[in-house]
Amino acid sequence: MEGPSIARVLVAVDGSPQSMEACRLATVLASCYEATLTALHVAAPIQPGVSVSPAEYGRAEDAAKARGSEVLETARAMARGLAPYVGELEFGDPATVICRRAREMDADLIVVGTRGLGTIDRLLLGSVSSAVAQRAPCSVLVAHGREAAAPSPSDPKTG
Ligand SMILES: Nc1ncnc2c1ncn2[C@@H]1O[C@H](COP(=O)(O)OP(=O)(O)OP(=O)(O)O)[C@@H](O)[C@H]1O
Ligand SMILES: [Mg+2]
Repeated sequence: MEGPSIARVLVAVDGSPQSMEACRLATVLASCYEATLTALHVAAPIQPGVSVSPAEYGRAEDAAKARGSEVLETARAMARGLAPYVGELEFGDPATVICRRAREMDADLIVVGTRGLGTIDRLLLGSVSSAVAQRAPCSVLVAHGREAAAPSPSDPKTG
């Protein structure tokens, strides 16, 4: 049986260990399928408010870009020698931007981590990974970070 063709893999990276684990998995898959790997970082949009001066706005945007570029450099280093790599930094709502870019680039697979940088640890999936899984135009692989594995319901220590 012929397998599905995977030519473009999109991995969403927020800089969290889980997203870098997702990036590692995305790199291996891209390499196996000889696909292009695009890593996408979505920086939070900076709302121009009454109390924010244009200079402060500019500084906040520069800082967000610098943080995003660092994350994308780590992703680039992971992909080096394994898969053709493109890094993208966008501003906006993460899930909306990830799904829009997947549609625009005709991605065959999106890879996200289970959780990200959020600190509210009440759910197995974060809001971005669940929204992407629900709204994506293609298949989504939700990568478990090693430390992010869900406790088994039958585990006596956790159940
Ligand atoms: N700003 C972002 N840019 C790119 N990818 C992101 C971004 N935010 C999240 N992701 C992707 O989604 C995965 C899950 O992160 P998510 O934000 O859903 O979880 P969380 O931060 O733990 O929870 P929440 O944000 O809902 O508090 C990350 O591992 C990453 O792959
Ligand atoms: Mg998050």
